[in-house]
Amino acid sequence: MTDRIIQQQIEYYRARANEYDEWFYRKGRYDRSPEINQRWFNEIAAIKNTLHQIGMVDDILELASGTGIWTQELLRIGKKITAIDASEEVIAINRSKLNSLSVEYHLIDLFTWQPDAAYDLVFFAFWLSHVPPNLLDSFLTKVYQSVRVGGQVFIIDSCFEPTSIANNHTLEDDGNIYKTRKLNDGQEFQIVKIFYQPDELKDKLQKAGFQVEVKLTDNYFIYAQGKKLKQFVICNS
Ligand SMILES: C[S@@+](CC[C@H](N)C(=O)[O-])C[C@H]1O[C@@H](n2cnc3c(N)ncnc32)[C@H](O)[C@@H]1O
Repeated sequence: MTDRIIQQQIEYYRARANEYDEWFYRKGRYDRSPEINQRWFNEIAAIKNTLHQIGMVDDILELASGTGIWTQELLRIGKKITAIDASEEVIAINRSKLNSLSVEYHLIDLFTWQPDAAYDLVFFAFWLSHVPPNLLDSFLTKVYQSVRVGGQVFIIDSCFEPTSIANNHTLEDDGNIYKTRKLNDGQEFQIVKIFYQPDELKDKLQKAGFQVEVKLTDNYFIYAQGKKLKQFVICNS
């Protein structure tokens, strides 16, 4: 079941690549009225502001980097971005939008990914909610390994809010983590979507090793900022 849903999610985002930005920029099926859209944009602006406050760092790893919506923000604070995604279609869009020699792209399935470097900042937006629960702890352990000591993790994800999804999707509060998603042409895919509560997310990130703060915006988003602290060294003298 897990392997099948992982593949469906990859196929879904490959097929959705050209229409993905409509969701973020509140166009087409995601346009819920100027007033409601503005709430979304205001909450995004607040998160971007918090992200930019991190200030300049050398190396950033972006997981599930998508079409570049957040990669372009990371370019403002990072000298070099390593961007990982499993869809060649979204990587192509990201690359052509940003056209930056500072971004290095890797086509990798995050469930087979093995961290091989440590970064000042590891960032992922709207990805954690797609990680099947049985794979969450091992994924977060790999995230922890990929942050250098003294470095940070920054995570953004969705809250349970009916106006966040397309007007032809239904958001049911039934505890079912498997959701059906449609493309503009009506094609359907099954994905995992988990709406974390702050305490639950904080607990998961602390167990992975981070010192972390988790916050909500008024309606739409949950975000977490965590640090990997220096480990204490026990000296035997
Ligand atoms: C909801 S989108 C988020 C994209 C981007 N972070 C953003 O906020 O705009 C999820 C992304 O995860 C990618 N993805 C799906 N399954 C993946 C996997 N197994 N490994 C790596 N990336 C995956 C998709 O291609 C897509 O770009």
